[in-house]
Amino acid sequence: MPWSPASWQCKPATQQPSYPCQAEVQRVVGQLSMLPPLVTSWEIESLKSQLAEAAAGRRFLLQGGDCAERFEECESSVIADKLKILLQMSLVLVHGTHKRVIRVGRFAGQYAKPRSADTETRDGQTLPSYRGDLINSISFTEADRTPDPQLMLRGYERAALTLNFIRGLIDGGFADLHHPEYWDLGFVKHSPRAAEYQRIVESIGESLRFMETLAGTHVGEINRVDFYTSHDALHLPYEQAQTRQVPRREGWYNLAAHFPWIGMRTADLDGAHVEYFRGIANPIALKIGPSMTPKWLGGLLDVLDPNDEPGRLTLTHRFGADKIARCLPPLIETVQSSSKTVLWCCDPMHGNTQRTSNGLKTRSFDDILSELEQAFEIHQQAGTYLGGVHFELTGENVTECVGGARGLAEADLSRAYKSQVDPRLNYEQALEMALLITRRVAQMNRGG
Ligand code: PEP
Ligand code: CO
Repeated sequence: MPWSPASWQCKPATQQPSYPCQAEVQRVVGQLSMLPPLVTSWEIESLKSQLAEAAAGRRFLLQGGDCAERFEECESSVIADKLKILLQMSLVLVHGTHKRVIRVGRFAGQYAKPRSADTETRDGQTLPSYRGDLINSISFTEADRTPDPQLMLRGYERAALTLNFIRGLIDGGFADLHHPEYWDLGFVKHSPRAAEYQRIVESIGESLRFMETLAGTHVGEINRVDFYTSHDALHLPYEQAQTRQVPRREGWYNLAAHFPWIGMRTADLDGAHVEYFRGIANPIALKIGPSMTPKWLGGLLDVLDPNDEPGRLTLTHRFGADKIARCLPPLIETVQSSSKTVLWCCDPMHGNTQRTSNGLKTRSFDDILSELEQAFEIHQQAGTYLGGVHFELTGENVTECVGGARGLAEADLSRAYKSQVDPRLNYEQALEMALLITRRVAQMNRGG
């Protein structure tokens, strides 16, 4: 069957809401497809070539942000704080890995969530599950939970507002490496790891000044920092509406995000999501978890990256600290025997979710770190390069994951638990994670 932005509609699509009125969905998709794109094909191609370099071991990918963005959190401080923590982490990673870091946010479109059940029952009343702000609203009333196509337009607008602000901040020098003090979050003074971070900032400042003295000028290339956007391209009508052809380039681009990914629950070889993704020209990521088999992965490699295009495919594995040692090696072998080049990335969040005794979803800092450390080691032994990390994090001072230098315990979680979906690392935990990864990489580079 020939591919088109709508050809997914002939395949079984999991994780889609049932809208009360299909005609209205069609109307909204029509409107969305007339609106200007959020990102451009040349940005997408530039990211693809950077990801190709990461796959070849010359760069490192840092991807992170909320599990789900909320429309009500589309506000300046939340967005700026997210950029700040990603910038700080990337600075630490540049320092430790001696590689240029590609920064990709889970933002400007991360509004749709896969759910384990289609409905939720409370006090005898059954309503559709909350599937993210792009689909329905969270309060437990029939009106709020009924999927509303208009929310796709609201989501597109929020994504545009978010991206506009991010582009403005970056053009204005917010991300200038000469001024890492602009990125300071309140914690720098209080964090148990503050001194370590400050040392890195100073040493990077010194290297930059040294290079500029040698070159006799501002080092423009280094000085400029880019951010790219990514989200789980889960809600296919929204993605379809933003899939376009552009002048003077071949193929079709998803212009709603630079780097969309396929979630673990929507990776069926014969399903609608894989059909949609096979036809777009963007670099894409595929989440792989414990249920992924070598045969299934082999099939996905053929369909999603038939020509072994550099930078096209990132495999983001998320097994859990207790499963990665068993699950990852056979899948590395599958990729090696396919002789395709992929970028390997570790998401140490989604395989490590647990519930506390009072039912809150949490993740432990130690499990997250353990999965990451094992990932580095397994790849090193297999002769492959772990070239990226993918986190759920926020620049805010939330209490959702336990552990970290401040020793958050289960009893602390209720203090500032904000996520409606998965628990995120708070800014201190996120920065600490970057410092610990850096230490690990440095140790490996020394042959330890
Ligand atoms: C996510 O990244 O929020 C997610 C749902 O991931 P996965 O598909 O890996 O479970
Ligand atoms: Co999540």
